Amino acid sequence: MRNVLVTGGSRGIGLAIARRLVDAGYSVIAVARRESAELTALRGASPGSVHFRAVDLGDTDGLAALVKDVRTEVGPLWGLVNNAGIGTSGLLATLREAEIERLVRVNTLSPILLTRHALRAMLAAGKGGRIVNIASIVAATGFKGLAPYAATKASLVGFTRSLAREVGGAGITVNAVAPGFIETDMTHSLTEAQRAQVLRRSALGRPADADAVAASVEFLLSDKAAAITGTVLTVDGGSTA
Ligand code: NAI
Repeated sequence: MRNVLVTGGSRGIGLAIARRLVDAGYSVIAVARRESAELTALRGASPGSVHFRAVDLGDTDGLAALVKDVRTEVGPLWGLVNNAGIGTSGLLATLREAEIERLVRVNTLSPILLTRHALRAMLAAGKGGRIVNIASIVAATGFKGLAPYAATKASLVGFTRSLAREVGGAGITVNAVAPGFIETDMTHSLTEAQRAQVLRRSALGRPADADAVAASVEFLLSDKAAAITGTVLTVDGGSTA
């Protein structure tokens, strides 16, 4: 069984990824601050295939221990899905510096450092591996009120491309998935007008959902995607078509 660590696996897109991967025969280590009832249920329904670690990923000092514990308790890592993120919004002029710092810490610094630890383990095992980073279409399109958030997501795209060049020789692929609007807790507070705008822009006339993102992640983790690295897969119902 291949082990995949999914950050933010307690709800939303991360939970959908965990569900997909378990169905596809992976063993999933979900990381979040708290376990949700849905994740507990998934763990109960798939004994031995779903593990949970309660970690605040903003506390980057704990990341090395997280990877070490997972290796000891579950086994070598095949994949890492950097999905956890926060969606702090607000006009730049009014955002507090501490909010911006937290955003950069959770959305950019933490995935980079966690990837560093996971990569070391993958390189030591010598069996290749997969890194998938969850970016966003706003990395390329822009959205009023999301400037620092968009900066964190654009940084993940740059990270993905360069790291793919660094570790390709070891059979490790690094890709990003860029979702458009997905209905989750993060987007719960969008106004009707903003939702209408998303629908208007969608070539398919509907937004993508968490499972569509999860299906892309499953593909990128699979052997079918062995020749794909350094790319960004957009899952947005055609909003940016
Ligand atoms: P969500 O708010 O429903 O879930 C976020 C997950 O990340 C939760 O499991 C939460 O516990 C975890 N998390 C957040 N901060 C954490 C921390 N400090 N330590 C540990 N875990 C932490 O959000 P959603 O929508 O599922 O987002 C998942 C990813 O997809 C994020 O990176 C987000 O930026 C990205 N995304 C979401 C879109 C959307 O429309 N929902 C669109 C584009 C990208």
